Amino acid sequence: MKAIVCEKFGTADVLELKDIEKPIPKDNEVLIRNYASAMQALDITFRSGRKVLSGVFRIVATGIRKPRKKVVGLDFSGEVVAVGRKVTQFNEGDQVYGGTMNGGACAEYMRLPINNRIAIKPKNMSFQEAVAVVGGAIPALAALKDKAQIQGGQKVLINGASGGIGTFAVQIAKKVYDTEVTGVCGTSNIDMVKDLGSDYVIDYTKEDFTKNGQIYDVIFDAVGKNNFSNCKNSLSQKGIYVTVDFLIPDYIDYN
Ligand SMILES: NC(=O)c1ccc[n+]([C@@H]2O[C@H](COP(=O)([O-])OP(=O)(O)OC[C@H]3O[C@@H](n4cnc5c(N)ncnc54)[C@H](OP(=O)(O)O)[C@@H]3O)[C@@H](O)[C@H]2O)c1
Repeated sequence: MKAIVCEKFGTADVLELKDIEKPIPKDNEVLIRNYASAMQALDITFRSGRKVLSGVFRIVATGIRKPRKKVVGLDFSGEVVAVGRKVTQFNEGDQVYGGTMNGGACAEYMRLPINNRIAIKPKNMSFQEAVAVVGGAIPALAALKDKAQIQGGQKVLINGASGGIGTFAVQIAKKVYDTEVTGVCGTSNIDMVKDLGSDYVIDYTKEDFTKNGQIYDVIFDAVGKNNFSNCKNSLSQKGIYVTVDFLIPDYIDYN
């Protein structure tokens, strides 16, 4: 089968299209025929070998001297074409989508244990639409709904509002929870962030939102470029700071 492989850390030109062996699912795994995969910020981290990941996570997910997982791509959407003997949750023909922690999605086929993050794809979404929500909408929803427990009418600031996670966060905060949204992004993305529903937009190249005297009930750092101590004076008394850095959790290694 064809796959995009990464055998050493580096810039995008280390990626190669290669023929590799089609995987065979183990007893607790499914074999997925991928129809769409998406590259997100973490894929770039894994490919470049940037040392932003540390400790056990770095050893398990990224690799130390070379990429731990050869086939790139975290997010996938496709069809289950074979199931292992012990798998009861999925059947051949199920259309699924999900995310892995260490690659494998940029290949015609991938094998995944059913304890990984796989779900049945909603019927009204294409494979391409489904894969696009995995690395963006899911972390955004986890941050705003589960961690910050946002409520209508609150003042919410999204740092990195123009990114893969931030664009979903703005729409969820505004259109689902009806909050007052301030999006922080670069100059070229101001109009886009306004169009997504931000009531106010701050250009981070011109203004530091932590120093403008504004107070928010929720600050979601959707790019991980800030930290709680910088932001605490911009939070209301019971205000909550959430960052993408601490949202990793339920991705499970599948090797
Ligand atoms: N924990 C999780 O579950 C999870 C999942 C996926 C990703 N992540 C992590 O989340 C982070 C963001 O991912 P992403 O896919 O949204 O990345 P992305 O698409 O690259 O977006 C990052 C955005 O941040 C903006 N930005 C850059 N520097 C900034 C600054 N100093 N202040 C404010 N905004 C700034 C950029 O805005 P402009 O382009 O407008 O300049 C860009 O649109 C990455 O570090 C990624 O590894 C975490």
